[in-house]
Amino acid sequence: MKPGMIPGIFSNIKTLIMEVNTITSMPRIGDKAPDFEAVTTTGKIKFSDYIKGSWVILFSHPADFTPVCTTEMSGFAKEKEFFAKHNTKLMGLSIDSIHAHIAWVNAVHEKTGVLFEFPIVADIDMSIAKLYGMLQPGESETAAVRAVFIIDPEAKVRLIMYYPLNVGRNMAEIKRTLLALQTSDEHKVAMPLDWEPGKKVIIPAPKTIEALAERKASNLEMVDWYLAKKTL
Ligand code: BEZ
Repeated sequence: MKPGMIPGIFSNIKTLIMEVNTITSMPRIGDKAPDFEAVTTTGKIKFSDYIKGSWVILFSHPADFTPVCTTEMSGFAKEKEFFAKHNTKLMGLSIDSIHAHIAWVNAVHEKTGVLFEFPIVADIDMSIAKLYGMLQPGESETAAVRAVFIIDPEAKVRLIMYYPLNVGRNMAEIKRTLLALQTSDEHKVAMPLDWEPGKKVIIPAPKTIEALAERKASNLEMVDWYLAKKTL
């Protein structure tokens, strides 16, 4: 065995143990969102009660009193009306204590006038972060990554984003994907590259020869028989 191989093996084993211990589960798109009860800045919440009848965006941040997180949380808070208009509730999460959360909410409010009114989970035992695969030890062993779960009113996970600690999320993209999901559900259509509200949508491809003939005879905007678009 070459010198240097033993430390290499130990470090691989250490990484493997960390991963087994930390990422205990990761919901996938289409899975039922795991239920949980949590202490939050708006009181105790059972997720399955909170979601009833609404879309929920559940998102984690690495730590309170950090600069990128402050910009992100402020971004979510400023979009309060947009999310309410689109039947969507917000829920933040980090593995900080409830006291740290309250102090941070208060500090940002006093300094900037922006109030984080949505609940922020104090996940100090990391149980919810583990349940949602928000702890990714290759990035940090002590803080959740920036995860976003868009969950529909049936509690099904519909879209997942993960960002590292040093890159803030894009609020326009979070809003766009929420509207894309809701529009797709409502009109049974799919959204092309860079879709924005008002732009053309894709009609599902024909599944029978008869439907193909109908499509060919239609006056839809057609790139090919399987790629047709329309304005809603
Ligand atoms: C931030 O939000 O600024 C941050 C948090 C954790 C690690 C690095 C940056």
